[in-house]
Amino acid sequence: VRKSGTGMPVVGMVGGGQLARMTAAAAVGLGVTFRVLSESESESAALVTHDVTVGSHLSLPDVAAFAAKCDVITFDHEHVPGPILAELEAAGTLVRPGGGALRYTQDKLAMRETLRALGIPCPRFAAVSSAADVEAFAGGRLPVVLKAVSGGYDGKGVWICTSTAEIEDVIAHGIPLLAEEFVPFRRELAALVARSPSGQGAAYPVVQTVQVDGICREVLAPAPGLSPDVAIEAEAMALRIAAELGVTGLLAVELFETHQGGLLVNELAMRPHNSGHWTIDGACTSQFEQHLRAVLDLPLGSCAPPDGSFTVMVNLLGGTDPDIFDRYIHVMAADPAVKVHFYGKEVRNGRKIGHVTIVGGPQDDVAAVRDRARRAASYLRWGTEDGD
Ligand SMILES: Nc1ncnc2c1ncn2[C@@H]1O[C@H](COP(=O)(O)OP(=O)(O)OP(=O)(O)O)[C@@H](O)[C@H]1O
Ligand SMILES: [Mg+2]
Repeated sequence: VRKSGTGMPVVGMVGGGQLARMTAAAAVGLGVTFRVLSESESESAALVTHDVTVGSHLSLPDVAAFAAKCDVITFDHEHVPGPILAELEAAGTLVRPGGGALRYTQDKLAMRETLRALGIPCPRFAAVSSAADVEAFAGGRLPVVLKAVSGGYDGKGVWICTSTAEIEDVIAHGIPLLAEEFVPFRRELAALVARSPSGQGAAYPVVQTVQVDGICREVLAPAPGLSPDVAIEAEAMALRIAAELGVTGLLAVELFETHQGGLLVNELAMRPHNSGHWTIDGACTSQFEQHLRAVLDLPLGSCAPPDGSFTVMVNLLGGTDPDIFDRYIHVMAADPAVKVHFYGKEVRNGRKIGHVTIVGGPQDDVAAVRDRARRAASYLRWGTEDGD
């Protein structure tokens, strides 16, 4: 018996950020009931979702009461503690992805160890707890990358250390850490796939992502000039990881492409991902709809872009002037092909508050479209020097 009272299933998403907000839009299209568990009424998704429960994803009573009103629950982030997920699953709640899979997004050491055991190529790594451990791992080769085992996002929790003093500063934080070889990559890629509980898989074209200071700034879909062999290898790798880890819903695999054309896995996310925002405008099925289809165990949608098209997405970071709407008129007048997405979040300098996309056709040049998308984002981010 479905819990909506309308015959449509109820999907509950834990977390009220922009990913939940964009999933809400896809739920409107499918006509499924969508609820969010949000920390406050003013979060991005809470502002646009009819059925909001205010509560904490860290509280078992809050999450369990929310889950009781939903047919399946899923996530806008990876921060629900494992023991809460285990309790829900033991009580018979459909949790997708399940706690067994989500663990690999919460614990970078478990993720690295498991991928290594599966024979998936990763940067060399080791658990470290002292500067001596890091020195022994690095063997004199700097930089060395230190990462928080848990809780990092947008590059917070990643330190690229070029000296012993920097290593000691990170160790002084006293948090569980992982050391990784510094990969002098040619570029970063992401492979986004979906997997349903029935075991169907679907793969989006592999994209190029551009990170600045650990924050995703641009996505080029598909990755320009990527060899078809490497693209297939990345898609197959992501589908295999999804199956081996028992992922239900979306899986984003962040990758490094080396100068030799090889691939190394950086990290995993099991939810809609910034590298997939382009799919709203540029693919047959958006990642948000795909995630809903997957967690509802529906047949997955086509991931294909229209023939010969490509999409450029540029993230919109907050500037110092909060009045974004004032600038819409100029951006929209200057380039009618620009699609503006704003998340309704308070504008703060450097915070992800939206994105813009432009879909190019077979006649268009990627560099020119990228320029136009950058210009739009830069104009919307008013009042800072950093507008690229
Ligand atoms: N081993 C490495 N060698 C070189 N650069 C790295 C390495 N690990 C991470 N980076 C750089 O730091 C960025 C952030 O790293 P990572 O994705 O592990 O952190 P995060 O904060 O969990 O990110 P996210 O916001 O995607 O959750 C990467 O996108 C990459 O640009
Ligand atoms: Mg990352």
